[in-house]
Amino acid sequence: MSDTPKKKKRVAAIKGTHDILPSQARKWQRVERTAKGLFELYGYREIRTPVFEATELFEKGTGETSDIVMKEMYTFTDKGGRSLTLRPEYTPSIARAIIEHRLHLLPDPMRYYFIGPMFRYDKPQKGRYRQFHQMDVEVFNEKDPAVDAEIVEMAATLLESVGVTGSEILVNSVGCRACRPDYHRELRAEAEKSRSGLCPDCQRKIDTNPLRIFDCKVESCREIAAGLPKITDFLCEECEDHFGRFKGDLDLFALPYTVEPLLVRGLDYYTKTTFEFTSAELGAQDAILGGGRYDDMMGDFGGPDICGIGFALGMERLLLLVPDEEAVAPFVYVVWMGEEARKAGMTVARTLRSQDVEVWIEYKERSFKNQLSRANKLGAAWSVIIGEDEARKGTLQLKDMASGEQQEKTLEGLLSTLQKTD
Ligand code: HAM
Repeated sequence: MSDTPKKKKRVAAIKGTHDILPSQARKWQRVERTAKGLFELYGYREIRTPVFEATELFEKGTGETSDIVMKEMYTFTDKGGRSLTLRPEYTPSIARAIIEHRLHLLPDPMRYYFIGPMFRYDKPQKGRYRQFHQMDVEVFNEKDPAVDAEIVEMAATLLESVGVTGSEILVNSVGCRACRPDYHRELRAEAEKSRSGLCPDCQRKIDTNPLRIFDCKVESCREIAAGLPKITDFLCEECEDHFGRFKGDLDLFALPYTVEPLLVRGLDYYTKTTFEFTSAELGAQDAILGGGRYDDMMGDFGGPDICGIGFALGMERLLLLVPDEEAVAPFVYVVWMGEEARKAGMTVARTLRSQDVEVWIEYKERSFKNQLSRANKLGAAWSVIIGEDEARKGTLQLKDMASGEQQEKTLEGLLSTLQKTD
């Protein structure tokens, strides 16, 4: 037996997942805070549902012919033999929660939001992860296309308020159960003519759901898809009118948009309006957010026959576009030396924190010089310096780190000085 110690194997994060380190977390918090504040301004309220659900919720909701359900779900059997799935998206979970808690019977507007992790077994690349985060926003029981325009306007305002510029708004209508059968028939017939040029996946889609051919990323399929009939040429009167009024309200908000007839979105539930915000800065995965109307989901779930519309935004993609953090918020660094000074420092820290002042104190015996240079490096606005003398007298030295100015203070004096500089 060899005496060489075995190198310990380190456990790494799972492929497609990522840590959000403190240097990034502040930016996440800032964006989340801004978004939550904005959503609440528009009357949305937070709803939190479990991370995993019965698999059939997504099979029924997201749709059996969607790539998500066919290829990307984290599905497992639990110890009780139930098939469960880590949510790949949030929309079906909200619909389920509404039905389960009969939220439609409450007088409140049915506007909800949530920010949290989603899971899809997709090929990881820039802007595409297996665990990623979405901000999800949904409105129920509002048929009027004005709500479609308002939700797009809110998304645009959100991007603007976190400093994202240069995104493009794409809109489309995918029709409804009245106009889609005719369109499907035509689409299937046309796709059939190009069957041999399509990838095996798209050949299968001709039979299951020809609309899904538009989701394919294979170049030859995209070329064929571009020549296939467009849903916008098949809209029934009601869908045509809805789409027209939606676009009219976007004009009212002076929001520039492009009608993209190929924008059918990768989920099966959409009816009428669909939209996406894209950014050329993101590369291949260019969709910052996507959404649309889904007027049949609640009824299909056996719930009340009420319509829905919403969008989800990919946090990781958004964060790539948000400008970096502003300066560090001002904080106090407590410098101490000696046992009594440590105790005095701890009291100062506790008092300041109780007054909402951020304080850093480290419990390592080091020289004043060393501690002050650390305070400087960390970006402290002030240092509170306590030596044996100050500890004995019950005072402290307050040092303004920018000017280098230093003054002796009592704890009360310190508090009033810091409050004045607020
Ligand atoms: P989705 O288009 O599948 O729609 O996802 C929305 C957004 O989530 C995308 O635009 C993208 O920014 C982000 N996203 C999706 N997959 C990944 C991934 N693997 N890695 C990183 N980001 C990703 C939905 O999920 C619908 N539930 C939206 C909706 C809400 N429709 C109506 N209501």
